[in-house]
Amino acid sequence: MPKPKTTMKQNRFPPRIQAITHAGSGNYDCIWDTCCDHGQIGEGFLLSGQQQSDACHPAPNTHVYFVDQVAHICEQLQSRLEAQYSSASFSVLCQDAASICLQRSAMPALRHLVVIAGVYGHTAIDIMHSILTHNDVSLKPSIDFLLCPNYELFELRQWLIEQNFSMKREEIVLQKTRLNEILLVSPISNKFDSAPSLTGKSWNLDCDIQRQHVQGLFEHRQRQARQNNDENAIIARDLYQKLLNQR
Ligand SMILES: C[S@@+](CC[C@H](N)C(=O)[O-])C[C@H]1O[C@@H](n2cnc3c(N)ncnc32)[C@H](O)[C@@H]1O
Repeated sequence: MPKPKTTMKQNRFPPRIQAITHAGSGNYDCIWDTCCDHGQIGEGFLLSGQQQSDACHPAPNTHVYFVDQVAHICEQLQSRLEAQYSSASFSVLCQDAASICLQRSAMPALRHLVVIAGVYGHTAIDIMHSILTHNDVSLKPSIDFLLCPNYELFELRQWLIEQNFSMKREEIVLQKTRLNEILLVSPISNKFDSAPSLTGKSWNLDCDIQRQHVQGLFEHRQRQARQNNDENAIIARDLYQKLLNQR
């Protein structure tokens, strides 16, 4: 994967945050950094917007929404961002990410990128399901989701397949000793992008760290399958085994 172009300010962010921001660098009008906590992901997008306008291009009109359900996180973030960025370029919303209303203005055909990172896979599913259910169905083609969940990637991928999502991009990023999967998906299928796979297509099993990670996923599912005779665990175990044998 080519190394993301980053500004000096973006360089202070950890590799996972830089990779998420890079994976979502597209032509979006609204970027929603949901479950934002420290807000570094949204800030990465604000900084890349500044970089584009510094380079004598017309200033991009992207608006970044920071969403978290914890009030004191939102208050601190609001003060910190106000001191550094134009208030026209961002909003801080204190609410459940599942209830965000994408069409906040009367402007049609805005492109939305909804980022859900740092939460469990089932939380990411709940948030996407709710957003897609309560926003107008006509918006569906204008929404991409950028996902980097902690754990439950197999269940998340299963859900994406069931819901006919397409995979626009996927990659794996190492931060310290931990591997993170980053998925850019669209809630509609199309002829250019493939359907998601259950175990992921970006693994480099010649890399020891990645191989150990997949081995760990396999062993986890093997334990689950033995303990509960859980059908899903058996499917996952067999697919991870197949992946490990492909090398
Ligand atoms: C571990 S932090 C993730 C921070 C950042 N997204 C990242 O990946 O580094 C999780 C944050 O998600 C927030 N959160 C969890 N569920 C949420 C929900 N349904 N709506 C809004 N915020 C949520 C928590 O308050 C917390 O600040």
